[in-house]
Order: sequence, then structure tokens, then C-alpha cells
Amino acid sequence: MKKWFAVIGDPIAHSKSPEMHNAWFAELGIDATYIPLHVTEENLAAAITSLRVLGSSGFNVTIPHKEKIIPYLDELDPLAKKMGAVNTVVRLADGRLKGYNTDGLGFLRSLEMVTGHKPEAKVVLLGAGGAARGIAFAMAQAGYTLTIANRTVARAQAIIDELGHGEAMALSDVDASAYDIIIQTTSAGLSADFALPIDVSRLRKEAFVADIVYNPLVTPFLRAAQKQGATIINGVGMFVNQGAIAFNHWLDVMPDTKSMIASIEEQLGGN
Ligand code: ATR
Repeated sequence: MKKWFAVIGDPIAHSKSPEMHNAWFAELGIDATYIPLHVTEENLAAAITSLRVLGSSGFNVTIPHKEKIIPYLDELDPLAKKMGAVNTVVRLADGRLKGYNTDGLGFLRSLEMVTGHKPEAKVVLLGAGGAARGIAFAMAQAGYTLTIANRTVARAQAIIDELGHGEAMALSDVDASAYDIIIQTTSAGLSADFALPIDVSRLRKEAFVADIVYNPLVTPFLRAAQKQGATIINGVGMFVNQGAIAFNHWLDVMPDTKSMIASIEEQLGGN
């Protein structure tokens, strides 16, 4: 029987996941389809029951359901449990639903596609929200020690405490010249009308600067870093890699990420 997959969220119309997964199914000759499903918060429980009853082989979970879905699942991968958020659900052979979180690992893969595996690098993560949390746990698991800088220092300190190593500080105290890798996850700096989260005037040319946002492809923060001569990494790689890791959980096949990244970047207007 044809397998079917979905992404649930609210809003969902903008999601690029259906196009990406359907392109991979076609490329790999897999008889499956992937559909976007608009699920509001009050319909979340009913939607999960429907996905079970109707036999979805797996689905992605996006804003605003990544945390609230947890009680409806039967099993959690340890990393998803630590993160307290799920973006991928797999229907196991016995029909039980298992939650994973591939966001942080997706980010790490996209970073390392450019930097290589550099656990000794000095890394500062800007922000301490849900996205930063996922990245922090995935990077710590891969051997990196992080500085986490946030407007509200206590939130950064809470993640550092959970990790058991690293340093928390205020965004305003970040000296950009001290880092090899800077990762921007805050919602500041998205619009040119707002101040950038940190001062990049002392950024080193050898530094790598990543943003998790992929639309616009080059955020005002990345643009400022690029002007300083740093290598910039947009959010397309994270999006594609989180999807590829989910795809692999569902089908035990790793799809091609490089050509998918190039094709989405081209759609979004190139670099
Ligand atoms: P997400 O799940 O996308 O990470 P979130 O949990 O709402 O979203 O987190 C948003 C992040 O952006 C937080 O780190 C937040 O800082 P606070 O913890 O101090 O709220 C940060 N952020 C939002 N607006 C900001 C601004 N104007 N300046 C600096 N940081 C900002």
C-alpha cells in the first residue's frame, strides 16, 4: 500500500516540507506521498487520533505543536525528551508513535557541511528559546562546549545548567572577535528595522556565522557578518537536514541534501 506522511502545524500553507519530501520520494522511486495538514491547537488530540487511525507512516510537527504533542505520543527518543520538543513522529511496526527531534542535529549537520567537525571551536549561540535549546543539546552531544548569550540571561543559564558545561551571558556582553562560530537563533535581527542582536564590527574574517532563518535567505544579521568578511550559513541547510534525518527515521534511506539545498536556495532567490 502507498505510504503517506504529513506535516501538522498552524499556519501550514507556507511549509516547504511537502515539496521537499515529495521530490525525494520521486527521486528515490519510493511509492509515498507527503501532505500539509492544518491543525489548530484545539484539534491536536483529534488530529493525532486521526493520523493513527488512518495509518500515516509518520509525520512532522511544526509551530505551535512541538511541545504540546508530547503527551499524545507512546515513546520518546532520549534527545527529544531532553529537548522537551518533537518535530518528527515515526509509526513503529506495532503501530505505536515515537517522537524524535531532528532540528538540532539538522542544524549541526548543515553547520558541519561548511565548517567540518570542529568540537574545539569557540562557539556562541545567540538566543535561548526552543530553537536554541535543540541546537545546544545536539552540539553538546557532539562534543562542543558553548557560550549561550541571551537578552534574558537566566534562560541561557538554565540551558547551560542542564548541559553541565559552558557559559551564559547577556547579548550585550558578547565580544564577536572571541568566537570561531556564531549561531543566531533570536527573533531580533530578522527585520532591518530592529537592532542586530550583537555588535559584529569586531568579527573575525575567519569566523562562520549561521542564522536559522531561511526566508529571507540572507537576514540583516548575516548581511552585516558578510560585510565583515565572515563566511555566512543561511537556514536552508538546517531545514533540509532536519527533513533528511526525519526521512531516514521513516524509511531508513538518507536522501540527497546537497542538491536539495541548492534547489531551495535558487527558489528563494540565490545568495
Ligand atoms: P524559538 O522557539 O523560535 O527559539 P522563542 O522560544 O520565543 O522562539 O525564543 C525567542 C528568542 O529570541 C529568545 O532567546 C528571546 O530572548 P528572551 O529569552 O530574552 O525573550 C529572543 N528575542 C526575541 N526578541 C528579541 C529582541 N528584540 N532582542 C533580543 N532577543 C530577542
